[in-house]
Amino acid sequence: MSERIVRTQVGIVGAGPAGLWLAHLLAVAGIDSVVLEKRPRAEIAATHRAGILEQGTVDLMTALGLDARMRAEGYAHHGIELRVAGQARRIDFADLVGRAVQLYPQQEVFSDLADGAAAKGLDVRFEVADVALHDLTGESPSITFTDADGTPTRVVCDFVAGCDGSRGISKRAIPEVLRTDHFREYPFGWFGILVEAEPSAPELIYANSDHGFALISQRTATTQRMYFQCDPTDSPDNWDDERIWDQLDACTAAPGFTLRRGPIFDKTVIPMRSYVCEPLQYGRLFLAGDAGHTVPPTGAKGMNLAAGDVSVLARSLERYYREGEADLLETYTATALSRVWKAQHFSWWMTSMLHTQPGASTFDRRRQLGELDLVTTSRAGSTYLAEAYTGWPLIPTRPGFLDPDTALGNVLASQLTGRETTASRP
Ligand code: DHB
Repeated sequence: MSERIVRTQVGIVGAGPAGLWLAHLLAVAGIDSVVLEKRPRAEIAATHRAGILEQGTVDLMTALGLDARMRAEGYAHHGIELRVAGQARRIDFADLVGRAVQLYPQQEVFSDLADGAAAKGLDVRFEVADVALHDLTGESPSITFTDADGTPTRVVCDFVAGCDGSRGISKRAIPEVLRTDHFREYPFGWFGILVEAEPSAPELIYANSDHGFALISQRTATTQRMYFQCDPTDSPDNWDDERIWDQLDACTAAPGFTLRRGPIFDKTVIPMRSYVCEPLQYGRLFLAGDAGHTVPPTGAKGMNLAAGDVSVLARSLERYYREGEADLLETYTATALSRVWKAQHFSWWMTSMLHTQPGASTFDRRRQLGELDLVTTSRAGSTYLAEAYTGWPLIPTRPGFLDPDTALGNVLASQLTGRETTASRP
């Protein structure tokens, strides 16, 4: 069968939040793209993922006109509880930094982005196979793949965006001699469950205890998400419901608190890793989101980092096409990674501060309690947590990035105004 040729400006590998956000932002700037995804759309929409959007990510969805369902079905949270050895201590985001986050899971963000892409006529192709990247260091890179209808196809483009997640092909296209893989693994994982029950508390509870870490999160008025620290090699099969509830009760016990139980309908073990690929660029290939870096889940930064990367990348591409300048593209790695490394630190810090370290000495444990005491009682300590949790600006505020004269400039500037989200919690 002869190869079908498709011509576009930016070929995007991966239709997760990173790839779809990028396609939307480029469309705002009048730049064409084709998005390729190997998984079926329904499968991505049905995969349970983490649930917190930073304020800037909420603002991005709003500026793209994709916020209706997020506001109707998600919930604004104005703080979190840190529970330390049974003592509840609230971090009040509204008071400390005047910002909030939105509880709205990633798979719902994906559905809104995919529906929005279809409505705007963006070229997003699911269930493609055999994706391969070519000529990344030349003037005209291309992506070959087998389209869903079986046709061998080649996307010929100016740039390739690798948005294909931590196990994707894009990162591996950067030769090993040019790439540094900054990697850290943790000696624990998260056991995640979905439960049919009412919320046990108005806000998320991050609990540190002698029995380990637990996170009591939420989904809706009738469905809850909970996690607890486990051995990273453990299997859901080893945990019957009774054992799960005993563990969660032990981690979250506090005077007057009852953890609401219900039927558990999903169990998974989630590994904890920190990873950064450096550089994020190779010739005309640019990595964004999990394709370039991963964080452990504590603090829910993953999807929000993708929003930052693609905001920077979209503006850099707009500058190239509109103003004829490649300067922002050339500094993409440094710009994107300056935000990524802050979030890497925050995710590592939350993870280290809240989990029980296997083999910890009494010194380690007391030091950790001292740190938690400081973070929850000192305004400076809790302000850092509140600022990092609600998120830093998605793009640098320096001149060149924020060009208010363009439609894309307006979209990107909207997340700097610090508007409060309005929906209420369950
Ligand atoms: C959720 C996940 C997180 O990693 C987190 O820090 C907060 C919430 C969630 O899935 O709800």
